[in-house]
Amino acid sequence: MAGLDVVWANGEKARYLWFWLRDHALDPDSYDLRSSQRELYTAGVDPAIRALAARRRADGRAVEIDWPDGPQGVTYDAGFLWRFRAPAPAALTSDRREPWSRLTIAEAATELPYAKAMADDAGLRRFLETIETWGFAVLTGTPPKLDLVAELARKIGYVRETIFGGLWEFEANEAQADSAYTPKSLRPHTDATYSNDAPGLQILLCVEYRAEGGDSVLVDGLEIGRRLAAEQPADYATLGRIAVPGRYMGDGVYLMAERPVFRHDRNGRILQISFNNYDRAPFLLPEAEMAAFYRAITAFDRLANAPDMQWQRGLRPGDLLIFDNWRLLHGRTAFVGSRRMAGCYLNHEDFESRLRVLRGKS
Ligand SMILES: [Fe+2]
Repeated sequence: MAGLDVVWANGEKARYLWFWLRDHALDPDSYDLRSSQRELYTAGVDPAIRALAARRRADGRAVEIDWPDGPQGVTYDAGFLWRFRAPAPAALTSDRREPWSRLTIAEAATELPYAKAMADDAGLRRFLETIETWGFAVLTGTPPKLDLVAELARKIGYVRETIFGGLWEFEANEAQADSAYTPKSLRPHTDATYSNDAPGLQILLCVEYRAEGGDSVLVDGLEIGRRLAAEQPADYATLGRIAVPGRYMGDGVYLMAERPVFRHDRNGRILQISFNNYDRAPFLLPEAEMAAFYRAITAFDRLANAPDMQWQRGLRPGDLLIFDNWRLLHGRTAFVGSRRMAGCYLNHEDFESRLRVLRGKS
């Protein structure tokens, strides 16, 4: 297919197919700048379309193209053409993520004062980039009130409603069906493997603490993936292939979803980790696959429960923990006494969106 050949100042060459250029035209009939939406009916464009003329603008900052089906002098910015000089799938996974274990984490980097994070856009950006890098952050000196959770959630996106409600505040309560509400220890897991869109971030604010134990435990699923890929590649492949069903039954609800433990993007990078041994639904695979699956989740879960993989901290009133439920596994040590926590979930996409906006990306 013919196209526009461009030679960049550094000698790099790129070819832009005519059809692709027509599809990306920004003239008012083809594109609505206000809504950033394509107006062009792409399926109506002649598959063999070619430009009538293409000119490099005198300042070298753009190319102007005349099209046979209407728009003349359509501007293609050099920055835009540079960005697409070679195929690259839209990166939905961040390059800033740093896999960590208890032994390698720069713990001080994960903590910041609440007042600083909330002061302005720069503070909020630093806070969100901390979560992006490490998968979590701890805000200290947070006023221990439920309202503050909502306020923080609204700075990022909005409170995610679930079967457990939106904003919540609880103490250990044996009457509730879910294991999260008991004082027993909780092994590392991700939440809502039974949901097609598992919550992206979880906020946990310690409001009251008159107890012993109940430390929060975090494990980096990316680090588990890194180690498995290096040391037990067959198990890593199994966990990227087999869709595992998750299930929630109770309180008049019956939810199910399934996906592999490691979900990858088009570049083969881990996009989401889903692991919850409590909520795994009964399922049966052919014998060899079933055996491979049990071998692989055993390797995964042993790493998740290895002390040198686990960050552990007792949250006290004013400590707010926020973590990426698509990346980290979380758990809790057993406790006695009373411990009041407030929190909520946020969607992963809203967190990503806020970061893009704060960085001013187009
Ligand atoms: Fe949980």
